[in-house]
Amino acid sequence: MEQLKAIFEKFVKPKARVSIGLDIGNSSVKVVQLLMQPGSLLKELVSFDIQSFKSSKGTDILQAVKKSLANAQISTKLVNTSVSGQAVIVRYVQMPKMTREELMKALKFSLGKYIPFNLNEVNYDFQILGEGGEGKGLKTMKVLLVAVKKEVIEERIKILRDAGLTPRVIDVDSFAIVNSFKLVQKENKGIIAVLDIGADITSTTILRDNIPHFNRDIPIGGRQLTKAIIDEFEMTEEEANDLKHNPKDRYGDLINAIRSVLDSLTSEIQMSFNYAESQMGGSVQKIFLTGGTAKFKGIDKVLNSILGIDVEVWDPTRILQINPDLPKARLIDAGPLLTVSIGLALRG
Ligand SMILES: Nc1ncnc2c1ncn2[C@@H]1O[C@H](COP(=O)(O)OP(=O)(O)OP(=O)(O)O)[C@@H](O)[C@H]1O
Ligand SMILES: [Mg+2]
Repeated sequence: MEQLKAIFEKFVKPKARVSIGLDIGNSSVKVVQLLMQPGSLLKELVSFDIQSFKSSKGTDILQAVKKSLANAQISTKLVNTSVSGQAVIVRYVQMPKMTREELMKALKFSLGKYIPFNLNEVNYDFQILGEGGEGKGLKTMKVLLVAVKKEVIEERIKILRDAGLTPRVIDVDSFAIVNSFKLVQKENKGIIAVLDIGADITSTTILRDNIPHFNRDIPIGGRQLTKAIIDEFEMTEEEANDLKHNPKDRYGDLINAIRSVLDSLTSEIQMSFNYAESQMGGSVQKIFLTGGTAKFKGIDKVLNSILGIDVEVWDPTRILQINPDLPKARLIDAGPLLTVSIGLALRG
């Protein structure tokens, strides 16, 4: 009987399987391996790795990808990855109510209105998000448009191929961030902003009741902070990064050195909020921060004092089951850097 049960379970029970999220950021590669149990909301973080690269040359990135896969002991070839930055356009637009087929035709003519690129240069997709109420007497609907420059996708696919990988999903960073966020904050009411501050980009998403309504990648991040420190203290990049990561008793001087970068960043954030708020008819009540630069000491207080909005730093790993073999200190250190890769792996 026991034997029969074992055989039955072996053949019939859906198997747990691993899902890989590979985030190739502007400063480092982050890979996570999640174990997805069928029918369970619990996911286990089996392994992860972070490999920074010095230059954004394809060969340096490829080396970092290969090393991260080896360190995280990943043998699966199928991975989920994402793209971000100025070559990616995400727009939430209100359009007259129509069918998917009609929309497909309409977009052929009107897409140029929303996307600042030649349409031959991009791959685009859209999704009807639901009815959007009345506008000028017409029934309207909300549409999500995503366009990515073909060259960016091709470049990404090439790196994956060279690393012996096959992309299962090519997503956009901001969607992956929201995916992670929703796992941590299941039921968020009202208007909130999720910011992932990386090395070169601050991905800004504004959600109402946990549904995204606005996204913009602001081209400012931790690298500009480091550059301001280099200029102010005439340090090498390595010394400046060390000071940024561990300011000790030089915190006051450091804040003064990076003040103008923080001002530029917060004014871009404020501009995005103003635009989204005018569209959404309400104001941002809270900011949730993640990404490597969310680890900068006191950044929540700095943003709170400039923007006057409650700020909380969040870490997606705290909601996962953790493989007990993973070193705790390394995981705590890595947490906010893994947001995109975890959101990607969650796609299954
Ligand atoms: N403890 C820390 N204090 C301050 N900054 C930190 C700390 N740890 C990491 N950072 C900064 O975080 C940045 C890297 O973050 P992250 O890995 O999220 O970026 P990325 O994904 O490579 O870049 P992007 O998202 O812009 O493509 C670097 O600028 C790094 O200096
Ligand atoms: Mg990033």
